[in-house]
Amino acid sequence: MNKMIIYSSQYGTTEKYAKELGTKKTIPVYSNQEIPATLLQTDEIIYIGAIYMGKISGFEKFAKKYNSLESKLTVISVGMYNPKRESNYKDIEKSVKASLQKTNFLLEDIFYLQGKLDVKQLRFKDKILVNALYKSSKKKNANELNENEMDIIEAYEANSELDLSKLDSILEKI
Ligand SMILES: Cc1cc2nc3c(=O)[nH]c(=O)nc-3n(C[C@H](O)[C@H](O)[C@H](O)COP(=O)(O)O)c2cc1C
Repeated sequence: MNKMIIYSSQYGTTEKYAKELGTKKTIPVYSNQEIPATLLQTDEIIYIGAIYMGKISGFEKFAKKYNSLESKLTVISVGMYNPKRESNYKDIEKSVKASLQKTNFLLEDIFYLQGKLDVKQLRFKDKILVNALYKSSKKKNANELNENEMDIIEAYEANSELDLSKLDSILEKI
């Protein structure tokens, strides 16, 4: 069965996950900006995308453009909010399924990975937004914070490398 990994990434986190996945599973990897024509002959597509404002970037457009394909599809989201929290993964699931409604894709699975926020790297508009979210969260007392605000503080202050071992559980299933 031939497979292809497509990724959408603004700042490189998702690209790193995608390339690691591609290397470990020997699957070709392409950016969603450079999808080759061979996609049309692919039996199984793995779309891995960063989440921006609650949606997997580029996914809706991808689904619309290739709506007639009958390939199997696995979706992996990468975001800063804890992917194990039900409210977060349910929202992503809903948005993925909405994008796939008028398509022929056969959705196999959706996986969720923790991303990384490198504030120094952010472009001006994104930096303003993230700084505002961080500052308003930091102003609150610990007991007033909701879970997403805690995640924002944690992601903002973290300076560790991306943990590629988070892919391990997905590697077994792809
Ligand atoms: C402007 C902005 C909006 C974001 N919105 C969300 C979001 O709604 N949910 C989430 O889980 N992560 C969100 N993130 C975090 C990114 O998904 C995370 O940093 C991810 O690792 C970025 O991947 P990339 O480096 O491949 O672009 C946001 C980040 C930025 C800068």
